[in-house]
Amino acid sequence: MTLDAAGQTAASQPESAEREAVDTNTSKTVGKPFCDDAKMRMRNVNVFYGETQAIHDISLDIGCNEVVAMIGPSGCGKSTFLRCLNRMNDTIEDCRVEGELTLDGEPIYGQKVDVVPLRARVGMVFQKPNPFPKSIYENVAYGPKIHGIARRRAELDEIVENSLRRAGLWNEVKDRLDQPGTGLSGGQQQRLCIARAIAVSPEVILMDEPCSALDPIATARIEELINELRENYTIAIVTHSMQQAARVSQRTAYFHLGRLVEVNDTETVFTNPQHELTEAYITGRFG
Ligand SMILES: Nc1ncnc2c1ncn2[C@@H]1O[C@H](COP(=O)(O)OP(=O)(O)OP(=O)(O)O)[C@@H](O)[C@H]1O
Ligand SMILES: [Mg+2]
Repeated sequence: MTLDAAGQTAASQPESAEREAVDTNTSKTVGKPFCDDAKMRMRNVNVFYGETQAIHDISLDIGCNEVVAMIGPSGCGKSTFLRCLNRMNDTIEDCRVEGELTLDGEPIYGQKVDVVPLRARVGMVFQKPNPFPKSIYENVAYGPKIHGIARRRAELDEIVENSLRRAGLWNEVKDRLDQPGTGLSGGQQQRLCIARAIAVSPEVILMDEPCSALDPIATARIEELINELRENYTIAIVTHSMQQAARVSQRTAYFHLGRLVEVNDTETVFTNPQHELTEAYITGRFG
């Protein structure tokens, strides 16, 4: 039997009273969803899968050289929202995105916007490393080639080496660049995918649980890399690890049932959350 602060048994309280104890009002995001130097601005974003609404009226800025962590229970819409930022939801049949989303003040939805260059500017790293069935070299060189960033072999060599170095993989693969990317370990494959993402010089990198398949050493390496990348890039990372969010991000956004409940400095979210739902989640009361 559990006792609450007033010394009553939990079972003796009516269930509805317990539920009312948590402020579940999520109509307005609390905290600091906006910033002065926004790289990406999202306003009143709604996302539907067919008739079902997955994202409800979310507004958020992601600042230049900032890492924003997105956390929340499974199914709350983190991946759906992240995919809005480079129009990856366009590839899902039945998915409809409404709202205003801009990159450097320019709308990213709109008939004239070509998604290929957009996705070069806003790159993505997925939960499961997904190297192309090509050599390590070609995995990194492919993007710069198709985007016309480099054509000559010497230029490509330089981009491949630099990207692999920045992803912390160069020393492990420099002698076997012609071998398949799929032959690397999981952590190496994820770093290869990060190298592939940065090879086209994106301005924003979206990461959807990039470390969920990795061991603690590979995870630490990626977290170190995120800290380094922040000097040049804007990063949004979805993570189920609150420790990871605390280590890598400057602001943390807490999602709940398709709504953005709270955005605050990461330290505030984890030490002094302003919304009761955030507190309930970070203290493990649900999620
Ligand atoms: N392709 C899809 N078609 C239909 N519904 C979808 C699709 N993808 C996601 N959904 C629904 O949208 C909602 C949000 O899902 P989403 O994958 O964005 O959540 P998430 O926060 O990323 O969850 P997780 O932490 O488990 O990855 C869920 O109800 C999910 O079932
Ligand atoms: Mg997800």
